[in-house]
Amino acid sequence: MSEAFDAVDVIRAKRDRQELSSEQVAWVVDAYTREVVAEEQMAALAMAILLNGMERREIADWTQAMIDSGERMDFASLSRPTVDKHSTGGVGDKITLPLAPLVAACGAAVPQLSGRGLGHTGGTLDKLESVPGWRASLSNDEMLAQLEDVGAVVCAAGSGLAPADRRLYSLRDVTGTVESVPLIASSIMSKKIAEGTGALVLDVKVGSGAFMKDLESARELARTMVELGTDAGVTTVALLTEMGTPLGRTAGNALEVRESLDVLAGGGPEDVVELTVALAREMLQAAGVTGADPADALADGRAMDSWRAMIVAQGGDPDAELPTARETEQVVAEADGVLTRLDAYAVGVAAWRLGAGRARKEDPVQAGAGVEIHAKPGDRVRRGDPLLTLHTDTPERFPRAHQALEGGWTVEDGTSSGRPAIVLDRVG
Ligand code: URA
Repeated sequence: MSEAFDAVDVIRAKRDRQELSSEQVAWVVDAYTREVVAEEQMAALAMAILLNGMERREIADWTQAMIDSGERMDFASLSRPTVDKHSTGGVGDKITLPLAPLVAACGAAVPQLSGRGLGHTGGTLDKLESVPGWRASLSNDEMLAQLEDVGAVVCAAGSGLAPADRRLYSLRDVTGTVESVPLIASSIMSKKIAEGTGALVLDVKVGSGAFMKDLESARELARTMVELGTDAGVTTVALLTEMGTPLGRTAGNALEVRESLDVLAGGGPEDVVELTVALAREMLQAAGVTGADPADALADGRAMDSWRAMIVAQGGDPDAELPTARETEQVVAEADGVLTRLDAYAVGVAAWRLGAGRARKEDPVQAGAGVEIHAKPGDRVRRGDPLLTLHTDTPERFPRAHQALEGGWTVEDGTSSGRPAIVLDRVG
């Protein structure tokens, strides 16, 4: 078959800062999916996009081409409105775990197609897989039935959804081309639009533990994604949220499930509760569900009931003991004072090196590994107080985890200025 374009011409055009036509974009994504455009050609194009950017029209075309590379799901038959949440990824970000059952308990249906962790940010599926018996893979029919009965599903995205993104994301991961607004926005939004959710709330993380290190680039990513969603008929809003510090008091799979259970039981760390409730309110508003206050559903046990139903529906035992790591070591404060900084990236890398994350897609993760956080910015500490507990099954990992944490926190003289804000801005 003769091809409409030549890959080298498309790469050269973007290298030379030209706008790609709608036809060029549709062709290059489709030809990559058909394996006519080679990996090294797509890698070169991704780098040219990272360096030279894309216009809004090109990003919309790229997103559409990735949607068109696979199937689209349809939730129109459900009796409740659908709303999903997507986080751009952070350290200790377990929010999906309490949030999906909470929003379901308030009357919306939450189809949460999630991923596994890669690098220093954890994956929701890895966290839930620490619940004995729980399975991540569901057929489309099982997913629909669970959404109708329970109202919440967290499962693996099937391979039929935006397959072009699946390949491109793995390629970006090994070619230094992840941190590009056009590529991140089109990657996330192609999957969410293909998934067929009626409404979407984006949690765009800002800070050392996030892809977007500063507020301005996070705002640009948020605006781009909100426009893509709105243009596709999905009610979309974004919150920009703090990720300079890890969220909550744990980073690691079973550790984060335990903390989420505390939140569902009406307790848990303040920052996790605040963000869960803020996102739940946005989701219910975007879905058009009125009259339910998520804070009440957390306090009165309805969210916990919904969590138990969600876990049981996917083969999990909500009463089973969660795994714990075999070995622990502590990191202690070296001076009296106020903890003014605990770096999310350092904690994320430490948790990863302890075995909570993976370096390659096919690596296993340790369910019990990770970092427990005893002091958060704003807390007063005394010399010798534990700041962190490191957990792993394989103690030979401790030295590299300690190395990752070097320079990762600051204890200073002075008075506490309180906890930093979690929600920094809203776009939509
Ligand atoms: N998450 C995605 O799904 N894609 C990206 O490019 C970045 C984060």
